Amino acid sequence: MFAFCSLLLILPSYINTIFSIMITRKDFLKKSSLIAVGGLLFPSLMKGNKVMQKEFGNNDFIPLGSGKPLVIATWNNLKATEAAMNKMKETNSALDAVEAGARVPEADPEDTSVGYGGMPDRDGMVTLDACIMDEKGNAGSVTFLQNIMHPISVARKVMEKTPHVMLSGDGAYQFAIAQGFKKENLLTEKARLAWEDWKKKNNYIPIGEKNHDTIGILAIDEKNNISGACTTSGWAFKMHGRVGDSPIIGAGMYVDNEVGGACATGVGEFVMKTCGSFLIVELMRNGRSPQEAVEEAIHRIVKRYDYKDLQIGYLAINKKGEHGAYSIKPGFNYALHQNGENRKLDSDSFVK
Ligand code: GLY
Repeated sequence: MFAFCSLLLILPSYINTIFSIMITRKDFLKKSSLIAVGGLLFPSLMKGNKVMQKEFGNNDFIPLGSGKPLVIATWNNLKATEAAMNKMKETNSALDAVEAGARVPEADPEDTSVGYGGMPDRDGMVTLDACIMDEKGNAGSVTFLQNIMHPISVARKVMEKTPHVMLSGDGAYQFAIAQGFKKENLLTEKARLAWEDWKKKNNYIPIGEKNHDTIGILAIDEKNNISGACTTSGWAFKMHGRVGDSPIIGAGMYVDNEVGGACATGVGEFVMKTCGSFLIVELMRNGRSPQEAVEEAIHRIVKRYDYKDLQIGYLAINKKGEHGAYSIKPGFNYALHQNGENRKLDSDSFVK
């Protein structure tokens, strides 16, 4: 009787341990049969890990992943995840990787919500926000930066070369120039024409804009270190001086190397009001999977605010290399470079 009771006590934690073992391609089949048996015997335990549930419950048996190194980025930024992974192969540094990844859309004139080519504010000025965080908890950020193509690299310099976390506006610009960055005009003809058109129709009132595709990027390197970056030109035709969530550590992006990382895209005001990325990392610290954590962070927004015209998307990764993605509305996607594959994936959403 005693032996039977002990078995009942020990078995659930044993199965849970099996679930949390990293899944590699090699032992995937072996573990999937163990987990299938575990799921039949203890279905309630399966509910504890949504990522696992999705892996084994969605019929197609595609692992959502636990391979490292990995890079994940908001939206269909496959070129960014590719550049980040290439950098990671060179330097084995998640920090170098996220910076290299963020620089890709920053330099792309066709990307109208980041860096060069970004939509201007309602006064016709392109103002940029970015932040970066490394595995030691160091952080750097720039806000309201103009005429510098790579705010993410300036943010890294703030982190590495100053005693501060954030530089803003003209001070950030002066610092960038002193660090050797070039002054450049970031307003492309395409963005200028879009602004001229907006001015005709919108009476100088900033509107809820669809164009809001900030890049947030997270990476884990082979040393199991996590870093993150976030960069944007923000809400198109915003009020002059508006700063969003992207340069705010804990809002647009947050990393804790003991736990994981998170980043955001979408209407930054609501990410800031709920400390979104910090919240997600803290939820993971308290045992939530990345998927459960991003879903809870979206629920906090939709419970409290009118989300009819809002789109916000979150990504999260944990130390095991698992990830989560969730948004308010359908349409949010992301790029994941893991296990040698660089893929675009669609996020689940609160509104179906
Ligand atoms: N999420 C970017 C912004 O709101 O500026």
